[in-house]
Amino acid sequence: MGHVLALDEGTTSTRAVIYSEDGRVLASNQQEFRQIFPAAGLVEHDPVEILRTTREVIGRALGSALLTAKDLTAVGITNQRETTLVWDRTSGAPLHNALVWQDTRGGELVRALTEAGHAEEIAEITGLPVNTYFSAIKAMWLRENVPAVREGLDAGTALIGTIDSWLIWNFTGGVHGGLHATDVTNASRTMLMDLRTLDWSPRLLELTGLPATALPEIRPSVGDFGTVAPGYLTAGVPITGVLGDQQSAAFGQACFSPGDTKNTYGTGCFILTNTGEAIRRSAHGLVTTVAFRIGDEPAQYALEGSIAVAGSLVQWLRDNLGIIRSSAEVETLAASVEDCGDVYFVPAFSGLYAPRWRPDARGTITGLTRFAHKGHIARAALESTAFQTADVLDVLRQDSGYTIERLRVDGGMSRNDLLMSFQADVLGTEVVRPTTIESTATGAATAAGIGAGLYSGTADVARFWTEEKRWSPRIDEDARVRLLHRWNEAVDRSLGWA
Ligand code: G3P
Repeated sequence: MGHVLALDEGTTSTRAVIYSEDGRVLASNQQEFRQIFPAAGLVEHDPVEILRTTREVIGRALGSALLTAKDLTAVGITNQRETTLVWDRTSGAPLHNALVWQDTRGGELVRALTEAGHAEEIAEITGLPVNTYFSAIKAMWLRENVPAVREGLDAGTALIGTIDSWLIWNFTGGVHGGLHATDVTNASRTMLMDLRTLDWSPRLLELTGLPATALPEIRPSVGDFGTVAPGYLTAGVPITGVLGDQQSAAFGQACFSPGDTKNTYGTGCFILTNTGEAIRRSAHGLVTTVAFRIGDEPAQYALEGSIAVAGSLVQWLRDNLGIIRSSAEVETLAASVEDCGDVYFVPAFSGLYAPRWRPDARGTITGLTRFAHKGHIARAALESTAFQTADVLDVLRQDSGYTIERLRVDGGMSRNDLLMSFQADVLGTEVVRPTTIESTATGAATAAGIGAGLYSGTADVARFWTEEKRWSPRIDEDARVRLLHRWNEAVDRSLGWA
């Protein structure tokens, strides 16, 4: 009987999940790590802390499953995408904290590239809008502002990577010959990869000034990422699957046919529609990205609507406003009112991502009266996630040409029945929740399982997917349009504030 260890390196926590050969979760362990906010708009992670929490969760997950490295067939890695760091290949030490995907400090670099007229060309090559969200801007900022990074890059001693690369390099030996690699889905979020060649774009390297020699080798998502080195609890186990977390969730949700669509409700919300081997372009602010690539098979692509703030808004209600004690309490508080009472909450904490891409937007609560109380704020916060998803699905339909009759949901907030039911209402589409909502970890585990020969391919993965609950829209089209209209009025009020 084979087992697979999936490492899910999210934005706020690290998780190790052990799967049996038949796709069941045997054990899991999760640990939060520090969110470092040096100033408004800046978000950092300590890469060494990420490595440490990873070792700890692996130990605890193996312990509770009563397994050791000998019992593992493969390791799969999935990770928060875009978050970027630079480290020294001779000491193994990071040269600065990792700049997290939400970090907006590269604004000036974005403006410069845009004003110089490069936005269209960059979008054509990479499928991405020029935005502080993507790794290239973060690496450029580090190079320009951290002397050790510039010196290391000039001397050829520094390596640039996303979180997957950081872990792969460390796990496979680090300073003793670690493998510097990434997978094609993570690479597609750097704003440095050419979507057609699946390699670093010479033109983007020229525009950003980043040296190719410091970048990882791009490999298929299912394939060989080396073997875990001695000194780790999983020593000797091959790493055979690596995917960015949103692509991994789509994989775990068995979105393998064109038109299959999922939404993961995590820190943010990320809606992906599989477009098969076709590179579809969006006319409305969606991102074109690689969904996955299995070995030498052709890459599969996706259109993605990225929403920056979803679950993190619930954390904000808990940590910054203190109106709930635990994230789960938001459902009870939101259910304490019949409706939002005409209160709308636009959580544009990092500007707005898809479909508007407005870095100048900031968070807004509109419609407050003396009648409104914390129940309305909680309700409006939850509903904002559903509204943002509806905005994205609307343009996804237009840009992909698919009807998208059901949305597969996963991630922590998909447990929230009130939100899921409202989601179906504002979408006018069925919402389907699978039995396992940890689709991100499932994706990495099953990808690694295919890579290690445990499963023959995606058809095996599709068999693990089972439906738990489904919601159908309960309101008519007029009511739906009215709600979305009101939401869009609120969004307009958030624009241009920064
Ligand atoms: O693009 C950012 C995304 O990968 C983060 O995902 O689940 O950590 O919020 P999550």
